[in-house]
Formats: sequence, C-alpha cells, structure tokens
Amino acid sequence: MADKIKAAERKENELCRGKYYYAAGHSFRYDNNSVPTEYENKIICADCLEVLKKLPDNCIDIIFTSPPYNFGLDYDMNDDTVSWDDYFKKLFAIFKECIRVLKYGGRFIINIQPLYSDGIPTHHIITNFFMKQKMMWKGEILWEKNHHNCRVSFFGSWKSPSSPYLKYTWEFLEVYCKGSLKKSGNSADADITAEEFKSWVTAKWNILPETKMKEYGHPAMFPEHLAERVLKLFSYKNDIVLDPFNGAGTTTAAAKKIDRRYIGIDISAAYCDTAEKRLAVNT
Ligand SMILES: C[S@@+](CC[C@H](N)C(=O)[O-])C[C@H]1O[C@@H](n2cnc3c(N)ncnc32)[C@H](O)[C@@H]1O
Repeated sequence: MADKIKAAERKENELCRGKYYYAAGHSFRYDNNSVPTEYENKIICADCLEVLKKLPDNCIDIIFTSPPYNFGLDYDMNDDTVSWDDYFKKLFAIFKECIRVLKYGGRFIINIQPLYSDGIPTHHIITNFFMKQKMMWKGEILWEKNHHNCRVSFFGSWKSPSSPYLKYTWEFLEVYCKGSLKKSGNSADADITAEEFKSWVTAKWNILPETKMKEYGHPAMFPEHLAERVLKLFSYKNDIVLDPFNGAGTTTAAAKKIDRRYIGIDISAAYCDTAEKRLAVNT
C-alpha cells in the first residue's frame, strides 16, 4: 500500500516538474507504414541523405548507427575534416530524415565519440538537437572499452594542474524515441533472455572494440556484439533495422544474424562490398 502511494506521488511530482516537457506538442504521425520491398534486406551504396528522402514516413523500427565524427579519419569516400558548422549542418539534415522515416515508438540509437581535442561536446550538441526535434531521450549507455584505443602514457601537464589531459576509455550510445517510450510488438518476437535483460539494462557495457578493422579495411568500426545487444534490447525479431552510415556492415550483419530485416547505406562502394560479403557468410 505504502509503495502504491509512493509510486502515485512520484508520478504526480513528475507531472509537476514537466516530465518530457521538450517533447510535448510533437506532430509525429501515429500511423506506421511498411518499408517498400525494394529496400528490404539491401545494402545501398549512396549518400544516405538522398536514399532517405525516397523512403516513406514511419517505416523503420530501429536505427542504430555511428556517424563519421569529423576526426580526420582516412575514410574511403568522405572528407572527415570539415568545419564544425558544415559537419553539423549535413549531419542534422540526415538525422531529420532519419526521424521522419522512423515509426511512431521507434528507437534511434547513436554511438558517439566526442572529439575532445577540439573541445566539441558532440554528444551534448546531438542530444540538444534531438530535444529540439521533440524526440524523447530514453537514456545513455556507456560503452566501456577498458583502455583499448586510449593513450595510456599521455598525461598533459604531468603533476601540474595547469592542463591535465583527461582520458576517455569509453564511448556513448544515446537512445532517443519517437513519440513514445513504448514500442509495440509481438511478445513472442522478443528474443532477449532473462539473464541478458538483467545484465544489459545496467547501462555500462564492457565490450572490447572491434579487432578486425584491418581485415575489413575500415578505420572506425564498432564490434558486432555491441550491435547485437542494442538490437536485442530495443527491437523485436523481424523488425526493420536501418544503419544510414553502415560502413563495413556491422549493424546489418548483426541484424541478419538475429533475424531482423535490415537496410544498410554507405557512401563507399568498397565498404558496401565488405558489408555484402559479411552478410553472405552470415547465412
Ligand atoms: C564511423 S563509420 C561507421 C562504421 C560502422 N559502424 C561499422 O561498424 O563498420 C561512418 C561511415 O559513414 C560513411 N558515410 C559518411 N558520409 C556518408 C553519407 N553522406 N552517406 C552514407 N554514408 C556516409 C563512411 O563511409 C563511413 O563508413
């Protein structure tokens, strides 16, 4: 009884404070559409902005992606060192289309590694953008890489407060929802086990980075297990998964492995070729 009263009080307090105030008054449509069959289970080599414009509203269940971070990486096709203004302008044009094609109740999960050396808090800038689009921020997963890809011997102003160098052994996964935190689906299509669920809702995930980047010929991949976890925790079997920056095809490989449908887009023909090859192995 006391618990029930406490829960009711908590709800009332949340309403007083204005829970999800920034998402109020959204104009998202409730009716979802099917994805056109010509896009289903396809790897598409193109600028994702152009492809997204051709998709109907509300046809994608879940988006999982890591965009280029403007780190100056040596990608096959895109320039990864542009002005921050140009970078965010293009990224946000793409994200607006992604939000449009997402179903009501759909999830948009973005792996973000801010470029600390430029003093650009990319994860905050992106979350601010999503709030302005009236998307609900479900939370943040800390992907702990345990000092892999981290400069262990670099300290900045050694033993002096003048300018210590802060080390980041993790990346972020920001989770946004369109219209509702709840995603409808058939409970028989939920394939996460009790153990996985219990462990993965603790939002710090210890997962080693991808070790086969050289083999796959891509400079900035996330590991397949990361994509698999995200898809199992936030989507149902047979859902349609989109990665607009699909790279060497990690999201699409994971989606196929665990019986989701997929669309993977990348601007590089070489990366799309790798993505196709991974799908062919994963039959
Ligand atoms: C961080 S990587 C994604 C890597 C991917 N998660 C993986 O595991 O292989 C970003 C990708 O975005 C692609 N890209 C950049 N601009 C693009 C655009 N406008 N349209 C489609 N792909 C783009 C790059 O070619 C690169 O492969």
